[in-house]
Amino acid sequence: MIAKRLRPFGTTIFTEMSALALRTGALNLGQGAPDTDGPAEIMDAASAAMASGHANQYAPLAGVPGLCAAIAEHQERRYGLVVDPVDGVQVTFGATEAIAAAMLGLLEPGDAVVVLEPFYDCYAPTIAMAGGERRLVTLRPPDFALDLDALAAAAPGARMLLLNSPHNPTGRVFSRAELEAVARACVEHDLVAVTDEVYEHLVYDGEHIPLATLPGMAERTLTTSSAGKSFSLTGWKIGWCSGPPGLVAGVRAAKQFLSFSGGTPMQVAVAGALADAERHIAPLRASLQAARDLLCEGLAEAGFGVTVPEGGYFVQGDVAPLGVTDAATWCRELPARAGVVAIPTSPFYDDPDAGRTLVRFAFCKRPEVIAEAVRRLTALQG
Ligand SMILES: Cc1ncc(COP(=O)(O)O)c(C=O)c1O
Repeated sequence: MIAKRLRPFGTTIFTEMSALALRTGALNLGQGAPDTDGPAEIMDAASAAMASGHANQYAPLAGVPGLCAAIAEHQERRYGLVVDPVDGVQVTFGATEAIAAAMLGLLEPGDAVVVLEPFYDCYAPTIAMAGGERRLVTLRPPDFALDLDALAAAAPGARMLLLNSPHNPTGRVFSRAELEAVARACVEHDLVAVTDEVYEHLVYDGEHIPLATLPGMAERTLTTSSAGKSFSLTGWKIGWCSGPPGLVAGVRAAKQFLSFSGGTPMQVAVAGALADAERHIAPLRASLQAARDLLCEGLAEAGFGVTVPEGGYFVQGDVAPLGVTDAATWCRELPARAGVVAIPTSPFYDDPDAGRTLVRFAFCKRPEVIAEAVRRLTALQG
């Protein structure tokens, strides 16, 4: 009974590999969820909001006003972006709902959306749910640089461009020059930009530049983000988008019939966390950077080709130097052979040949877990 437009997507590779991790008891470097909780202070604030008796009913559709104000303040303080806290901010059920609602609320059937591949798993199905079509710009290893010719070919006649930076699964943080090329394409071809910036605070090399800050972009960009990755609270699913009221209105029109609103006590806690974001995030960033380095060095020593990520949660390991030609099969066999779960990168591409020998490893895990996973992967080659 699955509707035709959703049939091509089946069960995601994350569901399949997480089930494999559970069944085999393997170390799970597959899923992008931290294995430690976020700051106790933020969790205590959610408990206090629940106990107060004033935060257990529906929040307003736009979100708890204090969180909407904190999001607007964060955008201005950190990036100099001025957004209206009332009409220019919408709180959502994770960035995932913001992206889905943007597609449903802003696209007409048949509209084309330019997307960089490999792409995060919700992009293709949410575009399909809205009746849109994706036009791909392929990022290729080892550097995953933006292909300007492919961008120039994809942009004319499209309605929207969806950009994720810092990027999952490659770890790219797109450079100012690359983002300027994206901005020029959007302005020249009158595209709406939707950005996915859930890793905005988790940058280890370079700088996160929101697309909305580039010339001509503030008025055509819907910026999405969430608390999950920034505060290691992925299960809370408190996300948001911000931008010009005209675009936020489209998201709101869809969101009100998807979930209306939710997570009121967590919204209250995230408002406090965002107001003091850097204090909470600096230690997390430092520990993730150390985890990245540990994993990258370990994988390189074990013989993988490694692209060191500039941001986010993931590193790309290439199994071609190990003599492996099909990373998907290798990943399915890995839990039994080595007690480690990792995700093949090919399902993130429409063109599976583009990522055939790539494997995505998550490093949002405790150092002892990463060290043990590296030991097992090294022993496998021995
Ligand atoms: C690029 C990207 N966007 C969005 C999400 C989901 O964000 P949320 O949990 O806030 O819905 C993820 C989670 O892994 C992600 O990697």
